[in-house]
Amino acid sequence: MPIGLFDTATALAPLRERILERIAGVVHGGAFILGPEVEAFEAELASYIGVRHAIGVANGTDAITIALRALGVKPDDEVVVPSFTFYASAEAIATAGARPVFCDVDPDTRNVTVDTVRAALTPRTTAIVSVDLFGCPAPSGDLRALGVPVLEDAAQAIGASLDGRRAGSLADAATFSFYPSKNLGAFGDGGAICTDDDDVADRVRALRFHGSRDKQTFEMVGYNSRLDEMQAAILRVLLPELDTWCDGRRAAAQAYADAGLGQYLALPTVPAGAETAWHLYVATHPRADHVIAGLRERGVGTRAYYRTPLHRQAAMSPYALPMQSLPATDELARTNLALPMSPTLSREAVEEVVAAVAAVA
Ligand SMILES: Cc1ncc(COP(=O)(O)O)c(C=O)c1O
Repeated sequence: MPIGLFDTATALAPLRERILERIAGVVHGGAFILGPEVEAFEAELASYIGVRHAIGVANGTDAITIALRALGVKPDDEVVVPSFTFYASAEAIATAGARPVFCDVDPDTRNVTVDTVRAALTPRTTAIVSVDLFGCPAPSGDLRALGVPVLEDAAQAIGASLDGRRAGSLADAATFSFYPSKNLGAFGDGGAICTDDDDVADRVRALRFHGSRDKQTFEMVGYNSRLDEMQAAILRVLLPELDTWCDGRRAAAQAYADAGLGQYLALPTVPAGAETAWHLYVATHPRADHVIAGLRERGVGTRAYYRTPLHRQAAMSPYALPMQSLPATDELARTNLALPMSPTLSREAVEEVVAAVAAVA
């Protein structure tokens, strides 16, 4: 039996009837944008994350752009962001009119550190985007000591925590994506911004509706970026399941280690005090592409992430410094491979994956 890289369908199966009922409720209710489901989901998400405000938007990319603007980022400001992340983390900075400045990551956690960010700061830096990569929380709280606002891109990390605080509550503001393959995935696009700051929340609410608070007067050039009622209704069914799903992912990660995967690949490191959400289980190997090809032949879902890091992407050439050296980023980009991970990945499946790795690595 092939083992897929993701499996969201198995965990969703027992919830299908309840989801269909909630969708029917939205259809009968007739409110489709910014209605009672979004309002209720925002309150439930804020309470789950442990912040004063959660505000639904159309996707996790808009969430970053809007949050940066709400934090005060202006055109031509510099915003530090890791190069080893999904493209949207940096693209959203450019969409806000600012300049992404790329920094390196720690080779073990794959996340930014105070030192890698400090090396990229200039007097023009007005924000830091710290990404909780692959579900592992970055040290966003420590970064706040650097003196500029920190935005936690927690798109991959809902359900994770650091020192007892949830991912999404670790910085001045945080963003989530509810893209279907995420740990909390909608049935379409969706995103959210979390913050404890009332003024930031107020600006976010205006920016997601064309820069208006009353739909009559327009104070800023904003966005049309709302979470819709259908997605919010679905997410309200899924949110109470999230911790159980994360526990399933943690059990699968432990099973990989117990089954001896570390003999063949360098396994991901979990920083002290962190509970990762294991959005992706990403190991490294010096000949990663060879291992990927061998695993695919054996029916194991696998792929590399971010093989071309952002400071080497064509669209980022106006921002990347010529000859910029980000050694940990380049090494991770070359050597990483993701293995199957899901809330319901069985011990037997894990053992099959490890046997396949042993045959090819
Ligand atoms: C780290 C990271 N940031 C931002 C995003 C953008 O989210 P979306 O696809 O909802 O726009 C994603 C996921 O796609 C992501 O993985």
